[in-house]
Amino acid sequence: MKIQLPPGSDTWAQLRAGQKRRGRSVREVLPDVPKRHADAARRFWSTRAWSEYAAVPAVSQIVLALTREGAGLHVLGAYTAVASDEVRHAQLSRELAELYGGYVDTVPEGFAYDPMGLASPSDVPVTVWALSNGCYSETVSLALIRARFSRTKHPAAHFVLNETLKDEAVHVRLGWQLAEELLPVLSRGQRRGLAEYGEALAQMLRSTFGTSALPPGPRRRERAIRDRTAALGLGALSADEEDAVVEEALSGVAERLHRLGISRRA
Ligand SMILES: [Fe+2]
Ligand SMILES: [Fe+2]
Repeated sequence: MKIQLPPGSDTWAQLRAGQKRRGRSVREVLPDVPKRHADAARRFWSTRAWSEYAAVPAVSQIVLALTREGAGLHVLGAYTAVASDEVRHAQLSRELAELYGGYVDTVPEGFAYDPMGLASPSDVPVTVWALSNGCYSETVSLALIRARFSRTKHPAAHFVLNETLKDEAVHVRLGWQLAEELLPVLSRGQRRGLAEYGEALAQMLRSTFGTSALPPGPRRRERAIRDRTAALGLGALSADEEDAVVEEALSGVAERLHRLGISRRA
């Protein structure tokens, strides 16, 4: 299979620019940030760190699938750069959790994306990863990060969201470029199968990025964490606002996928 970025794509240059920023930490860039002890914010940012950490094995699986399917080195380079960005996002989020009172070093209860579980060898094809990672996870994540960035007051959280936002915008563009190349040429049956899988993914994202599909106990806990973090301006929106952002992003993804022929009605 020939997998290439479109001619003239500036995605590669943007990934390289993101990589140049690596190596700077919250503490180095903002040494005077006062230490606050906000339990909700430290839990919120610890979960963000776990979420970014989970993106590392997910993107690594894409690199393996791309290699299996004969993608060019340019594409492999782009996706290994994405994996490295996700490591940096996990580090930045973890540092922020430390700054806000201490990183929680266990996977949160009910968290569906366990980084260790995602690292098991997989033979899932690139098309499925393109859908799940690029079209769904990265797109919904970017929408949330953008919304949080616009409302966050504290400079350290603002810095981390800004750094992450710049990278994720490139990841989303790259993910959709891959999807646009690979998905429309699939058979009708394959596209229907991906549409069904996409619906299951959307529901999963309502319990990983959003709170609406969580079971009652974790839902109460997660909603309280977001509401309190939002009230302090430390990087979250209220739970209701975040759930609304997730729903809006999911409808945008469904519409865009429909245009690529990924729909039950296709
Ligand atoms: Fe990320
Ligand atoms: Fe990303």
